[in-house]
Amino acid sequence: MLTLGIESSCDETSAAVVEDGSRIRSLVVASQSGVHARYHGVVPEAASRAHAEQIYPVVKRALDEAGIVPHDPGSGGLTGIAVTNRPGLSGSLAVGLSFAKGYALAAGLPWIAVDHMAAHAYAAQLQDPEGSITGRAISPDSGLSYPYLVVLVSGGHTILAISRSREELQVLGTTIDDACGEAYDKVSAFLGTGYPGGPAIDRLARDGDPRACSLPRPRLNRNDNRYDFSYSGLKTAVVHQLERFWDKRFPRTRENIAAGFQKAAIDLVIDRVRNAIEDTGITRVAAGGGVAANSYLRSELENVSRELSVEVVLPPPILCMDNAAMVAGLGYHLLLTGNPSAWETGVSARIPAFRHRP
Ligand code: KG4
Ligand code: ZN
Repeated sequence: MLTLGIESSCDETSAAVVEDGSRIRSLVVASQSGVHARYHGVVPEAASRAHAEQIYPVVKRALDEAGIVPHDPGSGGLTGIAVTNRPGLSGSLAVGLSFAKGYALAAGLPWIAVDHMAAHAYAAQLQDPEGSITGRAISPDSGLSYPYLVVLVSGGHTILAISRSREELQVLGTTIDDACGEAYDKVSAFLGTGYPGGPAIDRLARDGDPRACSLPRPRLNRNDNRYDFSYSGLKTAVVHQLERFWDKRFPRTRENIAAGFQKAAIDLVIDRVRNAIEDTGITRVAAGGGVAANSYLRSELENVSRELSVEVVLPPPILCMDNAAMVAGLGYHLLLTGNPSAWETGVSARIPAFRHRP
């Protein structure tokens, strides 16, 4: 059974065709980073406009690459459509949702609205046996069994959760202020290394020495919030208080600043993951969201895997970032076990469980 996935929650327009909820047949991602770069962040109005321009060509290409001819059942037609409708930028979500409804109506297909963060958590279950789509072969037996811990780190969210089933994400902790990727983007703007900031800082940090600046770790362990995150203090320390934390034996280079920032930002994530493994006894861990493409985060999670004998699944970077394969994969199962979405279904910018509890 082939599911078409559509994703347009932020600044990537993406479409994918996934077979039986796991094997990726095609995946197209059109990034808008060129549109938003000069503003150092996503401009919602510009994002909606770009989605409206890209949605048809992106879906068409995903269908072409999967060998599907719309309205030709002989080409091995689609059996359902899945689309992200929450959380995200309302105008951006509305473009994908409306397109999916229109397609479903015209083709007479069932469709389902999917939670973007649950889809990120599901990305660890996707397969690409030849590696021709994601750049890395992912065999059919590489998925994680439930429940597993999942850390979702992106430009809009920083969430540590237990993925109990495909549908149920039990949130353990969230950021109390900025998201991790947002901090990367702000520090990158400060260093003048462009947008999105994550990949630029990741590259710079490889040539830097994190000992040059020991940036402050947030104090979050009171009130049992062993799983929460905080990034605004770290960002302020880099942008306004670097002098206080600088070790004078090191030159003040962008590489050293990037390395010091990255160590503080990612060590916090790893610390939270360790806490959750220790407290829950769950020995399977997955990561998702754009920051999960980070090389230091990935190598630290590999270390956790070796040290604590836990199974860690890190999807290839294209599946960590916003993509429609994760939406199609999760949507397939939701369509199989539940009812299609109602035509009146709208978008939600936020999900209360993903926000910090006051
Ligand atoms: O999941 P995503 O593609 O979109 C959102 O839902 O936000 O994540 C985008 C975020 C951006 O903040 C970007 O700077 C960050 O992920 N990012 C990275 C890396 N690649 C992307 N952060 C750190 N290291 C990377 N290699
Ligand atoms: Zn995302």
